[in-house]
Amino acid sequence: MDFKVKAGSKLTGEVQLPGDKSISHRSIMCAALAEGTSVINGFLNSEDCLATLDAFSKMGVSIDRTDNKVVVQGVGLRGLKKPDSDLYLGNSGTSMRLMSGILAGQNFSTVLTGDHSLSARPMERVVTPLNLMGSNISTNLEGKPPIRIESSSGLNSLSYELPIASAQIKSCLMFAGLYTSSPVTIIEQLQTRNHTELMFKKFGIAVEVKEVGGAIEIKVIPPESFLATEINVPSDFSSAAFLILAALITPESDITLKNVGINPTRTALLEVLQDMGANIKVSNIIKEYEPSADLQIKSSKLTGIELNPELIPNLIDELPILFVAASLAEGKTKIRGAEELRAKESDRLKAMSNSLNKLGVSFAEYPDGIDIKGLNQEFNSSNSGLPYKAAVINSFDDHRIAMASAIACTRARNESNIEGVDNVITSFPNFLDTCRRLGMEIYST
Ligand code: S3P
Repeated sequence: MDFKVKAGSKLTGEVQLPGDKSISHRSIMCAALAEGTSVINGFLNSEDCLATLDAFSKMGVSIDRTDNKVVVQGVGLRGLKKPDSDLYLGNSGTSMRLMSGILAGQNFSTVLTGDHSLSARPMERVVTPLNLMGSNISTNLEGKPPIRIESSSGLNSLSYELPIASAQIKSCLMFAGLYTSSPVTIIEQLQTRNHTELMFKKFGIAVEVKEVGGAIEIKVIPPESFLATEINVPSDFSSAAFLILAALITPESDITLKNVGINPTRTALLEVLQDMGANIKVSNIIKEYEPSADLQIKSSKLTGIELNPELIPNLIDELPILFVAASLAEGKTKIRGAEELRAKESDRLKAMSNSLNKLGVSFAEYPDGIDIKGLNQEFNSSNSGLPYKAAVINSFDDHRIAMASAIACTRARNESNIEGVDNVITSFPNFLDTCRRLGMEIYST
């Protein structure tokens, strides 16, 4: 499937976006290992989260799903059953890396596989520390999937400093820490998203988090068992980011996104855009185990910035759309310390450079970042000064490249095409409908 995109007029309206992907994955994993029945409201019915759900069903967990309400009959920490076949996790790195931690502690062996993109992603980052805990896990010769996990008779505890700022590695080890006899400690120099910490606490699993000399130490105290609970999943900030940008760059727009997750380890994009001049108001804050709020966004003239590299883990998934913001801003934007972008569903530095090039933007790509010369888009309602050239853009089969490029093309002078957008359903299943409800002209072909 491709997207056909035309420049539209102002965006207006109020929408509720689908649930948070990271929280939805973790809710299924914890609910499956709990004792009793958990209810998950607002679950994200995307391909990635359904891959996690399906994998636990194959390990004997009874899971009922009606729209975005999921009821999970937990089997307890030691109740999973050996699946009849390999567990296929599609495009989902989060499923594969977090589940490796859980499966490392089971008394049966498993094999985890994925699609073409997932099969090309680095897995030694989780396999190395898990093997330090006494598990027996292997990948192919290049450290890529399939992951083969041998049966375990118990894991050793570990104190491990993350070599890469990655919530997936941290969370993998936190899950493995449920199967040790003494605590696992993970040290991170830059704080990454803390959804696993918050989800563990919600399920009553003891987690101690403290700051030590500028680093963060997360200690998981292994429980004997833990009880089921009810989880409300807020909307995904990373999905909201595409619509935030669309409203900012389309003249005379004014939109509201309801009940969006605003966990501070995820929302650095808000601060950065506000520093660039964005008019975004946060209201109706709900302080649950995961905070959420309504976001009102009005079109705004943006100015380029030099991004603080320490913010990168807290806006890693939003960088493609931040590149779009930078390309329309006045002045230059400099981004460094973002080499992890090359290890995502595609090489996102290369993929976004390709999109920006097609749209007529000047930039310089670096191994760990990019400099972008903003086109200084004019703001007038007639669309007479549209900044980008019309383009045919390759999504590199990456959902976030497809969506970021589609939003950019709503400011192109003529109809544009984004090729190969099927993967959008891995994270944002009703992206097209939502865009059109707000007034964008994006169609599938
Ligand atoms: C995720 C962590 C991030 C992010 C991914 C989801 C998670 O990956 O890019 O989309 O749910 O823990 P890394 O931990 O590899 O940075």
